[in-house]
Amino acid sequence: MESMKSKPREATGSDLSEQIKAATKDSHVRAENTQLMLNYQKGQITQTQYKLLLCSLYEIYRALEAELDRNADHPAVQPIYFPQELARLETLELDLEHFFGPHWRKRITVPAATHRYTQRLREIGKNSPDLLVAHAYTRYLGDLSGGQVLGKITQKSLGLSGNKGVFFFSFPGVTSANRFKQLYRSRMNSIELTEQQRREVLDEATRAFEFNIEVFDDLQKMLSITEEASSGKGNDVTSKTFSSSPALQFALGVGITLATVGMGVIFK
Ligand code: HEM
Repeated sequence: MESMKSKPREATGSDLSEQIKAATKDSHVRAENTQLMLNYQKGQITQTQYKLLLCSLYEIYRALEAELDRNADHPAVQPIYFPQELARLETLELDLEHFFGPHWRKRITVPAATHRYTQRLREIGKNSPDLLVAHAYTRYLGDLSGGQVLGKITQKSLGLSGNKGVFFFSFPGVTSANRFKQLYRSRMNSIELTEQQRREVLDEATRAFEFNIEVFDDLQKMLSITEEASSGKGNDVTSKTFSSSPALQFALGVGITLATVGMGVIFK
């Protein structure tokens, strides 16, 4: 029979959820092995690091969720649009307020890589909403997977009680992360895409991981510099520090100045 002899099913299958996982496998390994994530996994997360990470996550989710909301009825977004269960923006606002106080908005500090990431999110939200699924997948399924371990590490390392400061990691609207991920995957698989669009989604997912890796690398650079500056080392860096410009003072309340080192830190 013809069907029995048909070409063997590809190892990754034809479902978008399987293809995207396979396409980003190497990128996932690289993301896990960024210095920031390695330090994190060893429990070496300080409040300064975490605050800086929260700032970038805030900008990323502000862009991602604005574009998802705007395209909520788009056929490639509607099946994976779960604001009740997944939206992170408000949780990040609570966490930022916890650490920075009521005027936290003025203290948001992000590196250039975060800015590039959010620009891309806004661009595809406007011009190619088909690709939003790649970004939503990368962030939300990550948060529901390894992110859960990172939440526990943060709580322990920073000695936080309850959800204070770590609302970002909690998903009260999701009873079982595994079951929800299964539902999410099946919704991804229901999106109708041409072969060309599918290839673009897979490429965009790799890019989404790349953006995250670049953000982590920039954050790590910022942190290395602040540590050097505060320990009195890093004379090479002092000539490039922002210390002469109050507008460029690093807004973490630790009174440390930052070096530029090609990062183009964005202050608001
Ligand atoms: C310390 C760093 C990390 C650890 C330990 C980690 C760990 C894990 C684990 C164990 C899973 C599999 C869960 C399962 O199969 O149910 C997973 C899945 C996933 N992670 Fe990570 N991860 C890390 C960082 C990241 C980062 C930085 C991203 C992207 C920004 C990410 C995105 C994802 C995604 C999208 C999945 C879902 C894969 C799928 O089922 O299709 N992870 N992670």
